[in-house]
Amino acid sequence: MNDTIIKNIKSLILPKKTDRPLKGKEMDELEIADDAMVVIDGGKIVYAGPKTDGYEAKETIDAKGMIASPALIDPHTHVVHGGSREHEMSLKRQGVDYLTILEKGGGILNTVEQTRKATHEALFEKASKNIVRMIQHGVLTVESKSGYGLDRENELKQLNVSREIEENFPIEMKHTFLGPHAIPKGADSETFLNEMIDLLDEVKDISDFADIFCETGVFTIEQSRRYMEAANEKGLRVKIHADEIDPLGGLELAIEQNAISADHLVAASETGKTMLKDSDTVAVLLPGTTFYLGKDKFADARGMLDNDGAVSLATDYNPGSCVTDNLQMIMAIAGLKLKMTPNEIWNAVTVNAAHAIGSERGTLVEGDAANLVIWDAPNHEYIPYHYGVNHAHTVIADGKTVYE
Ligand code: NIG
Ligand code: FE
Repeated sequence: MNDTIIKNIKSLILPKKTDRPLKGKEMDELEIADDAMVVIDGGKIVYAGPKTDGYEAKETIDAKGMIASPALIDPHTHVVHGGSREHEMSLKRQGVDYLTILEKGGGILNTVEQTRKATHEALFEKASKNIVRMIQHGVLTVESKSGYGLDRENELKQLNVSREIEENFPIEMKHTFLGPHAIPKGADSETFLNEMIDLLDEVKDISDFADIFCETGVFTIEQSRRYMEAANEKGLRVKIHADEIDPLGGLELAIEQNAISADHLVAASETGKTMLKDSDTVAVLLPGTTFYLGKDKFADARGMLDNDGAVSLATDYNPGSCVTDNLQMIMAIAGLKLKMTPNEIWNAVTVNAAHAIGSERGTLVEGDAANLVIWDAPNHEYIPYHYGVNHAHTVIADGKTVYE
């Protein structure tokens, strides 16, 4: 006797489980079982596929002809931070751009001030609200970055809040140390970077990854390489905020340093895009950020896919460049602005998002943790199509309903 059967699933989305990210054309392949069911026992998948006889369970969930999928994965967020920056919206309307705001001591540095002032408890309370909203929107795995402390005490505070969130909610988190996210006011960039490199020894036990913001006016390619080499030497796998605004060669550096992901990539070079093919670095695209910064040029997802690269999608939820925690909204922007197909989008927010952060989730094969969403939608193409609202009907974490 199993614990739970989910019956009456009109279409069940079944991304393929692989030991490396899906690339190029593979991303447009997606198995969908019609008239399907899922059997769960001990919080794990026993069966997920077309309706079949022979299973019994203590509890039945009737999906009432709705569709279902693995729970979504958001592989790039800055969910733990203090305060907000709504005043930047009118600055942007006056034509002041993102890097100019930062150069003048605002932007990320404004959030650094607010994060330093906030207590551990206040940061926990604030991030909890976003995490609850993410769960309600069908996300059960979240990558969470530090980077608003820029000193030992406050970077550790952010990472510890992130870990406490994971202990208190039915989600999996991956924790990323992003010490080199900006240069503190008045600091010398080399001295500061050295401090962050020294901190790696301490944060490596509470972090899954080390990340850096490689951008004009922030950290150079040479500085980013030095930081990534140091993290790799200490056994901490790397990520990079790369080629977001200026084409500095961050994608090439990510591949050279065997980064698990290279994120943003709006300005990535043709060389970098073709190099994705022979690497397992996942291109995590953040089209909500391009949208929110009011730019016209989006990351070249098609170029990356047509060159056999692996692509994923994330919110980049943060208080400055993308203020949404709704990954479904990003799926819509990806369909509209990145010209990705519905199949590519679903693979990007499940199995490839898992590969971008070293998670075992994103699929529903036997033995997988039973993390899934029943969607109030007629088919899988509907979710990126009907944008700006929540389509999640029931969210199941480790076999238990956590939202309906
Ligand atoms: O991924 N680009 C750098 N970091 C964040 C934004 C952080 C902020 O503006 O507070 C990003 O877009
Ligand atoms: Fe980011």
